[in-house]
Amino acid sequence: MSLVAVEHLKLDLATESGWVRVLDGVDLRLEPGVIHALVGESGSGKSITALTLSRLLPDSLARRTGGRVVVEGQDVFSLDRTGLQRLRGSVISYVFQEPAIALNPVMRIGDQILETLALHRPAEATSAEVERWLVRVGIPSPAVRARQYPHELSGGMQQRVMIAMALAPRPRLLVADEPTTALDVTIQAQILDLLRELRRELGMAILLITHNLGVVGEIADEVSVMYAGQVVENGPASAVLRRPAHPYTAALLASVPRLGARLDALESIPGTVPSLGAWSSGCRFHPRCPKAVADCCREHPILRDLGHARTARCPFAVGDAAT
Ligand SMILES: Nc1ncnc2c1ncn2[C@@H]1O[C@H](COP(=O)(O)OP(=O)(O)O)[C@@H](O)[C@H]1O
Ligand SMILES: [Mg+2]
Repeated sequence: MSLVAVEHLKLDLATESGWVRVLDGVDLRLEPGVIHALVGESGSGKSITALTLSRLLPDSLARRTGGRVVVEGQDVFSLDRTGLQRLRGSVISYVFQEPAIALNPVMRIGDQILETLALHRPAEATSAEVERWLVRVGIPSPAVRARQYPHELSGGMQQRVMIAMALAPRPRLLVADEPTTALDVTIQAQILDLLRELRRELGMAILLITHNLGVVGEIADEVSVMYAGQVVENGPASAVLRRPAHPYTAALLASVPRLGARLDALESIPGTVPSLGAWSSGCRFHPRCPKAVADCCREHPILRDLGHARTARCPFAVGDAAT
């Protein structure tokens, strides 16, 4: 059984001009212990998808209009308050881009981790356990650090504290939404190494949201690519990066800066992400697609099975077996 199964999920958000479709048939499966990357340009619906896994958006803001989200066999939209509380924290927890916003500025970091432990694992809510978590996420002198306030820590150290707080309840899934985007490159690499190490040690699954395909190649086992409120390609990360099946994935890959590449020689994807509710008919990517033919503006492609655990939402996509 998959840890998480998102099936044809459709979700509308409340905006000033009324309800607008943001997710339009998202399909996503997360397996236990697997690092799954979710990639795509900004605005494609990655964060909204992640928040919906534990129904973190209030009903006044988000309305499900189709499909379902099943976590450990349970439909999250039919969970009661107790079920949702267990889901948030004990099953799924989150690390966001800006640790400075998520941490409480007037509370010592040790106390913040202690509070999380008290809520989810009361038997482990001791200062010794807090210090063990600080060491585990690579923070030296844990006794000293535990007594510090967030502003006394660097951005990288703050993100390590966030990771400790997210993992202390021992969730089955850690959702890391652009966890390194706000950090400099060296620290980014350290945080990714830490996530990989913690996955090996603790065995949880990770949903890693990023717009950086370089990061995917470094750390992910599987990858799903989102475009305009849908998943357009999914498969083993190495296979997808080596031979992308969807033209959008290929375009994303071509836009990754390579070491030594001249800036003006970088290919970027022409056109822009369509804004909310302004999706094209037919294939959503066709206005920007180098391979588009006349039919692409009429037929809305399905997410097709390509074999070898790969899928793509393009009639011209070929899998790994083809030459
Ligand atoms: N609170 C909100 N109210 C209205 N629209 C929103 C809100 N949050 C996100 N959106 C819109 O939903 C779409 C998907 O957003 P998001 O999931 O944050 O994208 P991503 O994480 O892929 O960058 C975007 O077009 C965004 O503008
Ligand atoms: Mg986002």
